[in-house]
Amino acid sequence: MEKILIEPRDGLVMSCLSNLLQTSAEEALASGDTFKVGLSGGSLVQLLAQTLPNITTDWSRWYFFFCDERIVPFDSSDSTYGDYKTKLIGKIPVTEEQFIKINPDLSAEDAAKDYIKKMSVFFPPDRVPCFDVLLLGLGPDGHTCSLFPGHKLLNEASLWVCPINDSPKPPPSRITLTLPVINNAKKCIFAITGSSKAEIVKRILQDRENLPAGRVQPHSGELYWILDEDAAKFLETA
Ligand code: 6PG
Repeated sequence: MEKILIEPRDGLVMSCLSNLLQTSAEEALASGDTFKVGLSGGSLVQLLAQTLPNITTDWSRWYFFFCDERIVPFDSSDSTYGDYKTKLIGKIPVTEEQFIKINPDLSAEDAAKDYIKKMSVFFPPDRVPCFDVLLLGLGPDGHTCSLFPGHKLLNEASLWVCPINDSPKPPPSRITLTLPVINNAKKCIFAITGSSKAEIVKRILQDRENLPAGRVQPHSGELYWILDEDAAKFLETA
């Protein structure tokens, strides 16, 4: 199921996102489980830093994973975890331990293997992990996570997490979730704002070009595109 929600202002994108997260968390927590969310980097970090404090929940049962992460020290300005640590921790009552982080001292290959081990504590090792929610970003070239157009990682069929050392967007070394894991999530949510994203949003949602973000098609989960009017301005429905 794909839903495209177009909101007139940034503030409404945030309330739409917080409502979706609140409902998803309630569902997961009511079943007695933890709430497992995958985070992306870039402009999403600031959006979430403004959105998550509006949610009322048992924060102690939330666990944050990374849809992709750059292999850099946590205190580097390129570290996605570092960005969340600076902008989010402190605004909501969560601890650093609730963030399932990469080991930035390893090579991308070893960091990916190590991350799979860390995920195995939360997900049965013999099944494709099923995240409650994946929060996804969209690059101007149509990438999401660290899955870039034309890259061989788009064909990965069995590994949960893969290394990449030739990312066209710097820094070059990263790890990323793979499409089988992404498409097994209960909810995949793109929250996209600003006119700089309008053209790529149209190429994916209207022209249906075969780009990485367009390949996010959860098998039995839900797919949400929350757009502000600027990001949606080239869509015919806007
Ligand atoms: C990264 C991010 C990436 C991000 C997109 C969109 O490592 O670069 O995790 O996946 O979500 O590049 O970034 P912007 O929203 O900043 O354009």
